[in-house]
Amino acid sequence: MIQLRCIKCNKKYPPEKRIYTCQCSGVLEVEIDLGEVSIDKDRLRRRKFGVWRYRELLPINKESKIITLGEGGTPLYKAETLGRKIGVKNLYIKNEGANPTGSFKDRGMTIGVTKALEFGATIVGCASTGNTSASLAAYAAKAQIKCLVLLPSGKIALGKLAQAILHGAKVIGIKGNFDTALKLVREASEELNIYLLNSINPWRLEGQKTEAFEIADQLDFQPPDRVVLPVGNCGNISAIWKGFKELKIVGLIDSLPIMTGIQAKGASPVVKAFKQGREDITPVEKPETIASAIRIGAPVNALKALRALKESGGIAESVSDDEILNAQKMIACLEGIGVEPASASSIAGLIKLLEAGEIDRDERIVCITTGHALKDPEIIFKEYERPIEIEPRLDKLKEVIKW
Ligand code: F0G
Repeated sequence: MIQLRCIKCNKKYPPEKRIYTCQCSGVLEVEIDLGEVSIDKDRLRRRKFGVWRYRELLPINKESKIITLGEGGTPLYKAETLGRKIGVKNLYIKNEGANPTGSFKDRGMTIGVTKALEFGATIVGCASTGNTSASLAAYAAKAQIKCLVLLPSGKIALGKLAQAILHGAKVIGIKGNFDTALKLVREASEELNIYLLNSINPWRLEGQKTEAFEIADQLDFQPPDRVVLPVGNCGNISAIWKGFKELKIVGLIDSLPIMTGIQAKGASPVVKAFKQGREDITPVEKPETIASAIRIGAPVNALKALRALKESGGIAESVSDDEILNAQKMIACLEGIGVEPASASSIAGLIKLLEAGEIDRDERIVCITTGHALKDPEIIFKEYERPIEIEPRLDKLKEVIKW
């Protein structure tokens, strides 16, 4: 049995109901009766990696036409060189930039857009700091339905904007920030019959929980001690925590990791609330950071995230833009993994918490890098030296090569 439950007042709704939030305005969670689920490691191992490897734990009707681009199945790297540099023996990087559109959002959209079709929707929509729109545009194209995306004008990394345009979405810039755009798209979804696929949509997060399934699976069902990831609108950390809890309930793992959420200093309402022991956030009016993906002042899933942090005995920390850029360079040059700035905040946060003695160096740690470096090429051109130009002569080449 599947139902929707409000995480604030516990009110339950049937899954056929096309809603995003409760009457009390609380956010909803999908509840699957895990007692009915039969799943074992041997059966899983016979299937290929990816979101749908875990189909018993996903809330989709058997008859549904599944919209997929082959999402998930991303590599989990043992980060030996970076680990040695920062003093962690067992450091892993789960690189979600390796998804079809270059971010973890694809895991959510395969379920979200499939669900949209189940509901008979012909238009999907979102507000976005970029990656959600790139992903939704691609999945809407695959499903051959219309897609509307509202973006904070002038604040979107170029690669992401290019993707949304390329896949044929109706792309509209909003004078304001992400929080303003989200408010408007929520209004529009009611009035214009648009199926909303921001992370306020509880079905979408069901796809993202497979990040937890895959991490456990790739570690032979010996879950890590800790998972560190960037936090913006708070959907992903909530989904991943839900995923680990479900794996434990169905008996595939015996322990749960400590969740560690990292925000950028100029956009850190969750870190502030966490440190003050509160369950509600004070929105940041003018969020600012170079990590544009997580430039969010009023995260809609904050309560879910704060509960995930609390239940797991976790930590929330913020990092500066300089720390983020430094971590981006370390991952790129020590491990060969190119990530966008928001993704690098997980490593930046880990370094900060190790130095503060808040994380034990003996832990087995997984850092999630959420989006590909090419999403935001402008940052790279701004922060790194551009190639010099020379005459095509060997003596000139010798002159300029100084390793
Ligand atoms: N990392 C990247 C690369 C992101 O794009 C996002 C969110 C996050 C981390 C944070 O995840 O919101 O679930 O806490 N991007 C959204 C978007 C907001 O519109 O693309 P979250």
